[in-house]
Amino acid sequence: MRDARKRMHAVAGRAMRVKWNPDKVGDGGSGGKIVIRSACPEDTRRLGMILGGILEQGDIVALLGDLGSGKTALSQGIALGLEVPAEYAVTSPTFTLMNEYPGRIPLYHLDLYRLSGERDLADLGYEEYFYGGGATVIEWAEKIQNILPEHAWVIHLSHIGEEEREIEISGRVDRLAALSALL
Ligand SMILES: Nc1ncnc2c1ncn2[C@@H]1O[C@H](COP(=O)(O)OP(=O)(O)OP(=O)(O)O)[C@@H](O)[C@H]1O
Ligand SMILES: [Mg+2]
Repeated sequence: MRDARKRMHAVAGRAMRVKWNPDKVGDGGSGGKIVIRSACPEDTRRLGMILGGILEQGDIVALLGDLGSGKTALSQGIALGLEVPAEYAVTSPTFTLMNEYPGRIPLYHLDLYRLSGERDLADLGYEEYFYGGGATVIEWAEKIQNILPEHAWVIHLSHIGEEEREIEISGRVDRLAALSALL
């Protein structure tokens, strides 16, 4: 909890509360946490856009949270931040587990809601995405938590109220610091 600091930041015209808590600095480069209160879908999309702006090849963003917690909203923002043209409407893949969008780097958007097991995922050839030339965003990453690479961004979204969400971001501390600087 050392060095924890709280900041208020205006996002999409509203106050989005940001708490940056690099509580595991020194554990080999992973750890730390950013906690954000999103007040509306636009806040969540805006956060995604900021994150998408700093994603690099090989990045994996694991999204965890209940139905309607905002995983797709965040993914839509990430797509914008990756410069996926606006005419591509990013929605949860319904009949496929994965959609690919062209951007500054490719975006591989996976939704594992219907995944029945890790075997299905292996059939999908997920390693090609994880270690490919794009960024991978995974909704319902709960299902594959034990095979997520160490360097993944892990984002938990939870309902606080009708429109309020808590979004907790963990990952490599250097990347979290870069994100925090933009929030
Ligand atoms: N602060 C908020 N952030 C994100 N979405 C919000 C927020 N407040 C309300 N919403 C609403 O909650 C819903 C979130 O839907 P979204 O599809 O992004 O969730 P999801 O986590 O992807 O759900 P699913 O598990 O079905 O894939 C939308 O209808 C959105 O308008
Ligand atoms: Mg979704």
